[in-house]
Amino acid sequence: MAVIGDKVVRALNQQLNREIYSAYLYLSMSAYFESIGLKGFAGWMRAQWHEELMHAMKFFDYISSRGGRVELFAIEEPPKSWESPLSAFEHALEHEMKVTKLIDELVDLAIVEKDHATFNMLQWFVGEQVEEEKTFREIVERLKMLKDEKSALFLLDAELGQRKFGGEE
Ligand code: FEO
Repeated sequence: MAVIGDKVVRALNQQLNREIYSAYLYLSMSAYFESIGLKGFAGWMRAQWHEELMHAMKFFDYISSRGGRVELFAIEEPPKSWESPLSAFEHALEHEMKVTKLIDELVDLAIVEKDHATFNMLQWFVGEQVEEEKTFREIVERLKMLKDEKSALFLLDAELGQRKFGGEE
């Protein structure tokens, strides 16, 4: 028997979908970076794709563990290209800020529904979103600083290429 309310399950399933969309968005950005020869950026986004899938699976496993039914919905098609590396990262930062808002709304729902276990599980995501926004914001700032300097862009590409695939959660 489910030990979790229908309203909360529905909202968690929606967030599971948004995490998969996040993965899809970053995979699309990875393809974009490949297409413009920035292999380090592409690899970094591929690692981010993996991280988002881990986020999705945290929701999947949590819903199941509380006797809820996981439901998978259609995944929205992500954009395919951006004007520049900076505009891709600005888009990613904006997206993460939206995700933060969605997580905050889930926390609000857990409070209203007096669902302490869900509230507790969501605290991991509250902390994670602080990190996610910080990471993207730092890269946006660095891209703004280098403007059109190709050599600096390739140095950043080499640095981002060192991110370990699946090495972060
Ligand atoms: Fe799932 Fe980028 O937060």
